[in-house]
Amino acid sequence: MLIKNIWLKQNLSVFLILVTLLIFNGLVMGDHGGDHGGDDLEKIFTDSYRKGAGCNDKNCPPFGSTNSVAAIAQDGIISENSKFSIILEASITNYQNFGKKIKEFQDILRSLQRRYPQAGLCSVVAFGNNAWKVLTNNDQSANQLKNFVQRGKGEFIAPSTQRDILFHLQCIQMDVLFSLALYTNRTFTGSIKIEEEVHCFKWEESRDFIGFIDGTVNPVGAANRTNASLVSDGQDVGGSYIMSQRFRHELDRWSKVPVMIQEQIVGRTKDNSTILPRDQRDPNAHVAKTFLGNRVLRKSMPYGVVNGGDIGLYFISYSHHLSFMEDQLKSMFGELNGQFDRLLNYTKPVTGSYWYAPSLVQLNRLN
Ligand code: HEM
Repeated sequence: MLIKNIWLKQNLSVFLILVTLLIFNGLVMGDHGGDHGGDDLEKIFTDSYRKGAGCNDKNCPPFGSTNSVAAIAQDGIISENSKFSIILEASITNYQNFGKKIKEFQDILRSLQRRYPQAGLCSVVAFGNNAWKVLTNNDQSANQLKNFVQRGKGEFIAPSTQRDILFHLQCIQMDVLFSLALYTNRTFTGSIKIEEEVHCFKWEESRDFIGFIDGTVNPVGAANRTNASLVSDGQDVGGSYIMSQRFRHELDRWSKVPVMIQEQIVGRTKDNSTILPRDQRDPNAHVAKTFLGNRVLRKSMPYGVVNGGDIGLYFISYSHHLSFMEDQLKSMFGELNGQFDRLLNYTKPVTGSYWYAPSLVQLNRLN
């Protein structure tokens, strides 16, 4: 009887301590959720996959299945409906506690997502080759990643401005998006120097400022977008390679080109983006130079000011293989057959970088 009482008392104490710890954890972590301590795949799965791939708790596929690749991907990769994006490209000036700052950033993101569930807030954090190597000390991860090298010649140059870290913040609401950008800057103060900040938005009918609909043949739906953009196996499963280039348009010159010629240059009609037959388009039309099927996901958006400053397109694409995007670039800049993409007569890239967007699992492992 005595032994039984002692046993009961001991287990009751353990039980009470556990309950206290759980309550304390809930109170302290509060709105920050406390959901980023290590590789909590189950939590990541429910948070990210449901939002990113649009399933609910009843029809989410089990973790480890092909579809669940998206579950461990950052939610701003395959997301579809954003109207605004803010791009921050930065150099990393201090690597100390960088993983901690990344976790703080993710906590802020989740917190804003919980507060404004209708806003469709999502994001991608990605790294240049040098930064990824420093942060992971792992030569095997993202083994296709490299620094962007300048391409082209003469007046058709794709310059390299390779930087260390990219934030691709996206949202349906500009106000919520701007909050995330503000907090991002605050969180990384002292660790990064922002070199490029671009505020983008979807223009009328998803048109670029050259007046053509951009994104017509982009992969649609979670499965297609996942297949195009995410690494599907190995240690980088759920990760993605990115190419970014900010283009500055020469709209005065473009607007003087007759619409029929503009259509030959792009390779599609201006009003509804119908593909032109080969014999009606320039052999070096933009679509002819870049066609690659469903292997790349483009998420570009227009940016600009009306007072004579820069106006153009922030081009950004995601793929499970970096070489697809590099091949498109080589093709546009005359490295495949000596012919440049005709669109480059009217728009010029002023930045250029390759990035790797780690999976959530990889992000959580950073120190
Ligand atoms: C200022 C720069 C650019 C503008 C204004 C632009 C605009 C367009 C437009 C209007 C289309 C046709 C509609 C569509 O299918 O989306 C298109 C298609 C496409 N663009 Fe661009 N683009 C630009 C840069 C780039 C770059 C740098 C790449 C890749 C390196 C690229 C890759 C593609 C691809 C893959 C397609 C689809 C081609 C097809 O299969 O029909 N674009 N772009």
